[in-house]
Amino acid sequence: MKRKIAIIGTGYVGLTTGTALAYLGHKVICVDKNNVKIKKLRRGIIPIYEPGLDKILKKHHKNIDFTTDLKDAVKKSEVIFICVGTPSKKDGRIEMKYFHLAVRDIAKEVQDYKVIVNKSTVPVGAGEWTQKEIKKYYKSKFSVVSNPEFLREGSAVKDFLEPDRIIIGVEDEKAKEIMLDIYSLIKAPKIITDVKSAELIKYAANAFLATKISFINEIANICERAKADVKKVAEGIGLDKRIGPKFLNAGIGYGGSCFPKDIDGLIQIANYKKYNFQLLNAVVKVNENQQKLFVQKIKKILKRVNGNTICIWGLAFKPNTDDVRKSPAIEIIKQLQKLNYKIQTYDPVAVENATKELPKKNIKFCKNPFEAVKNADVLALVTEWPEFSELDMRKVKKLMRHPYFLDGRNQFESKELKKLGFYYEGIGRR
Ligand SMILES: NC(=O)c1ccc[n+]([C@@H]2O[C@H](COP(=O)([O-])OP(=O)(O)OC[C@H]3O[C@@H](n4cnc5c(N)ncnc54)[C@H](O)[C@@H]3O)[C@@H](O)[C@H]2O)c1
Repeated sequence: MKRKIAIIGTGYVGLTTGTALAYLGHKVICVDKNNVKIKKLRRGIIPIYEPGLDKILKKHHKNIDFTTDLKDAVKKSEVIFICVGTPSKKDGRIEMKYFHLAVRDIAKEVQDYKVIVNKSTVPVGAGEWTQKEIKKYYKSKFSVVSNPEFLREGSAVKDFLEPDRIIIGVEDEKAKEIMLDIYSLIKAPKIITDVKSAELIKYAANAFLATKISFINEIANICERAKADVKKVAEGIGLDKRIGPKFLNAGIGYGGSCFPKDIDGLIQIANYKKYNFQLLNAVVKVNENQQKLFVQKIKKILKRVNGNTICIWGLAFKPNTDDVRKSPAIEIIKQLQKLNYKIQTYDPVAVENATKELPKKNIKFCKNPFEAVKNADVLALVTEWPEFSELDMRKVKKLMRHPYFLDGRNQFESKELKKLGFYYEGIGRR
C-alpha cells in the first residue's frame, strides 16, 4: 500500500531514504530547514555526491516533493521519518539539539494518528524521550518507532534497497504493520524488537566494525616489526567464516561522519550507565595512533631526502563520497601543516568540502593527481579512489622530486612500483 511519508532532515540519510521510498511507490515529502538545499533539490540538483541517486530521483520525481515547511509535511503524512544529524560534541557526547528540535517541531503539529520513526543514530532512551515529548502536545494515540539506518555513503541507494537486515524497534501492532508494509518490497530479514534494543543495535554494529579495523591495524603494526604481510594475514583469518573478510583492510584508520562519533557515543552511553567500555576506549586510541604513525613515516622520509613537499592523494574519508567529516586525510594534513610542510593535494570530488575544513596555510588544492605530485618529495595516498590505480605511474615518478610512495590504504602492490623505481611502503606490508 502506498503510504504518505514525511522525511525530516534531507542530508545523506534523509535524501537517500526519501528517494528510495519514492522508488518503492510511496508519496514522500522531504523537509529541510536549509532553504538553499531545498531550492536546489526542487530544480533537480542533488547537493551531495552519491552515485545513482540522481537517476532514481529523476525517474520517480512525481512521488517526491521538497519543502522547508515542516508543519505542512507533518499534516499531510501518516509516517514521519526523523533523519537529522546527531554529530559529536567536542567532549565526545552526542549533540542532540537538532533531534530535540525536530521532535518538538513535529510534536506541535500532530493532530491525528502518526508513526514517528527515528532513523537518526541516537542514544538508548531517545525513543522514550520522543514519546514523552509528543504526549505533552497530543493526547490521543500515536506510535514511536526506532528504525536505524546502516547505509554507507558511496553505495547508499543500493544499501538502502538491498540491506542485510531491516531493524524495526516498535512497541505496538499497528505501527509494526505500517512499517512492514513500507518495506514490503524489500527482500531482507526484518528484525522486530523493542525500541531500546533497536537503538543499541546501531551503535553495537558500528562499534564492532570499528573494532575489526583497529584490530587489523594492530596486527599490521606487528607485521611491520615481524616482516610479515598483513594482507596475507587478513586473507588467512578472513576465510574463517566466524571472522569474515570484510573490514580487515589495514591502513590509516577509520573516519567519516558515523564511526568516530558513534564509537565516542557508545563510550559515553556506557559511562552514563556507569560502565567503563574498556575495549572501545582502546579501539579509539589505536585509530588515532594509526594516523600519528603515518605522519611519523612521512616525517622520516622528508628528513632522509631533506625535503618538505608532500603530495596527498585523497581527501574524502573513503572513496565514492565527497564527505570529509572526520576524514583521516584532514587530520593528517592538519598535523603536517603544524610541522610547516608544504601540501599539494587532489581528490576527485571532495576538494570543495575539504577547503572549508582545512587551514589555508601551505596547501595547494590541485585539479588532477599529476599536478599534485609535481616536485613532491613524498606521495602519500590516504583515500583509495579507484582512479588512482589507473594512473600512469611512470609519469607520476617523473614528476616527483623524490620517488617515495607511502600507501596509507594498501591500494598498490610494491613489486610493480619498485620496478618503476619507487621506494614504496604500505601499512603492515613486507
Ligand atoms: N551519513 C551516513 O552514512 C549515515 C549512515 C547511517 C546513519 N546515519 C545517521 O543518520 C543521521 C543523519 O545523518 P546524515 O549524514 O544524513 O546528516 P546530514 O548532516 O547530511 O543531514 C542532516 C540534515 O538535517 C537537516 N536538519 C537538521 N535539523 C532539522 C530540522 N529541525 N528540520 C529540518 N531539517 C533539519 C540539516 O539541515 C541537514 O540537511 C545521523 O544521526 C547519522 O548518524 C548516517
